[in-house]
Amino acid sequence: MASVAIYSPKGGVGKSTCAVNLAYLSATTSKRRTLLWDIDAQGAAGFLLQAAQGRDTANKIFSKDADPADLAQPTPYPQLSVLAADASLRRLDVQLVEEDARKRVRKLVRGLERRFERIILDCPPGVTEISEQIFRAVDVVVIPAQPSALGLRGLEAAQAHVRAQRRSAPDILPVLSMADMRRKLHRETAAQHPDWGVIPYASAVERMSAERAPLNAFAPRHPAARAYADLWSEVERRLLAAESAPGRD
Ligand SMILES: Nc1ncnc2c1ncn2[C@@H]1O[C@H](COP(=O)(O)OP(=O)(O)OP(=O)(O)O)[C@@H](O)[C@H]1O
Ligand SMILES: [Mg+2]
Repeated sequence: MASVAIYSPKGGVGKSTCAVNLAYLSATTSKRRTLLWDIDAQGAAGFLLQAAQGRDTANKIFSKDADPADLAQPTPYPQLSVLAADASLRRLDVQLVEEDARKRVRKLVRGLERRFERIILDCPPGVTEISEQIFRAVDVVVIPAQPSALGLRGLEAAQAHVRAQRRSAPDILPVLSMADMRRKLHRETAAQHPDWGVIPYASAVERMSAERAPLNAFAPRHPAARAYADLWSEVERRLLAAESAPGRD
């Protein structure tokens, strides 16, 4: 009964890759009934988990009469289901504003939490109505950022955006993605923030789109897979803390 969003205002920073590996680790290592909710019209997370190609039906999830848990598909991995995305989510922001459905995502997450122990949301980039609704719904926000000046600027903007959404903002966990420890700037950034996650840059990670599988499924001993496992341990620790915190609604 806990949920985590993988979010960044910036595109191409490793959100979907991270979401798929964390969801896989939640289902396998932690043996949790897990749902990966792909909420980005690009549909990358569903693709990586071999979800059936959508026929522009993903936005049914947001219609009042559907039970979103019934729309989830199984994946090749036990305990891991996926709510796949497709192009029908392109206008979701406008749709939710037009319908004045400002709490829709939160209500959907609470409903899904009755069926799944862990929900991982793969968010679209941008600062939007959707991202604001997601921050009001989840317990932890993982923010991947590249260890460059612009990457860290994006991270700061993201943190401010999350914190602005509610009085008791969700827990934020920054992650340096695509870190290259041969580079001084990357090493220094990691050393300055020992509590942040670090995922190394690796071509094995890029292979996920050819394999259509989580890195941790096909190369679990790769250093990047170990880094995702460490990151999942930290996320799980924070989710457990959130679950036992008083007053969660
Ligand atoms: N640690 C890594 N090492 C090498 N390549 C990586 C790593 N993480 C992600 N990538 C690659 O970077 C590209 C972008 O990753 P991904 O699609 O996960 O980013 P995203 O933030 O979800 O993008 P978008 O904003 O478009 O949704 C992909 O080709 C992916 O394989
Ligand atoms: Mg993505």
